[in-house]
Amino acid sequence: MRIRFALLGAGRIGQVHATSISSDPDAELVAVADVFEDAAKALVARYGGDVRSIDAIAAANDIDAVVICTPTNTHADLVEQFARAGKAIFCEKPIDLSIERVKDCLKTVAETGAKLMVGFNRRFDPHFMALKGAVDKGEIGKVEMVNITSRDPGPPPADYIKYSGGIFRDMTIHDFDMARFLLGEEIETVFASASVLVDPEIGRLGDYDSANVILTTASGKQCAISNSRRATYGYDQRIEVHGSLGMVSAENQRPVAIEVATAQGFMRPPLHQFFMTRYAAAYAAEIAAFIAMLGNDSAPTPSGHDGLMALVLAEAALDSIATGRAVRPDVI
Ligand SMILES: NC(=O)c1ccc[n+]([C@@H]2O[C@H](COP(=O)([O-])OP(=O)(O)OC[C@H]3O[C@@H](n4cnc5c(N)ncnc54)[C@H](O)[C@@H]3O)[C@@H](O)[C@H]2O)c1
Repeated sequence: MRIRFALLGAGRIGQVHATSISSDPDAELVAVADVFEDAAKALVARYGGDVRSIDAIAAANDIDAVVICTPTNTHADLVEQFARAGKAIFCEKPIDLSIERVKDCLKTVAETGAKLMVGFNRRFDPHFMALKGAVDKGEIGKVEMVNITSRDPGPPPADYIKYSGGIFRDMTIHDFDMARFLLGEEIETVFASASVLVDPEIGRLGDYDSANVILTTASGKQCAISNSRRATYGYDQRIEVHGSLGMVSAENQRPVAIEVATAQGFMRPPLHQFFMTRYAAAYAAEIAAFIAMLGNDSAPTPSGHDGLMALVLAEAALDSIATGRAVRPDVI
């Protein structure tokens, strides 16, 4: 089955998804919408399709699915509009910054029976998939502890921070999802610590740039997440899962994988610069998974509920910082 796509939002992540759609033999890019028409035109010139308005896409008979890549504050409205229009929906994270708004939006999705998948791309990274495969096969026995390191190469501009929802809803949200995915149990307590060590402007905007979070499940499994908005050595993305029989880890990836050994020591090329190259394969695989899910009519994963749960953990982390205590996240 060939899925006919429309892409909403032709910015950074929109361009990544346009690449995946146009290179997948089971997909076709039919339309692109962006409030900034030149951005949509540029994407269409490169990957095909027409520039159309959001409403024209919702009314179109030649479109099966939309990929929502617009800014976060538009996601919930667009999910509802396209659920009502009978389209399948791939929505970038997060669905919204408000838990209540996400819940309302998911109600509409349930009522309309629309298929909704949320863009937690890291579940589809080949290295993290292999790690999860080893865990699921029981190679390391029972999972006991997960360590996730996720550091950006540098802080985003102040304008981005203003509308991002803060480090936990914007950045750690990926790690909260990976924690749930790898622990295989819901989180019972969240303890967070955060500070401003990288850029004072981030602090002036009421956000943090350095954070650690400890998550614990009902059975006592733990996950430690370490986030920073700066890593001088590149995009630092590592996961380690420790279990009763051993440990499995996914190390940092490099665009060029060599090592030069001399009397001075061992030198390797730099890490990936940022998410667009580090997770290129993951972005392609998540779109392929979305297409496969539509083809065999299976339940979308990560689901809207997964999107909601990651946001609930972000909210609990903020509560933990405000109170200085471990917080029980809302049970949904
Ligand atoms: N999964 C990931 O790894 C990942 C990575 C980056 C961004 N994101 C998410 O993707 C979303 C977009 O982020 P980005 O970095 O690509 O932003 P961006 O600013 O680069 O792109 C957004 C685009 O949407 C357009 N736009 C704005 N409002 C619109 C509207 N109402 N209708 C149509 N187009 C509109 C803008 O003109 C712009 O071209 C955010 O929600 C972000 O959290 C996810």
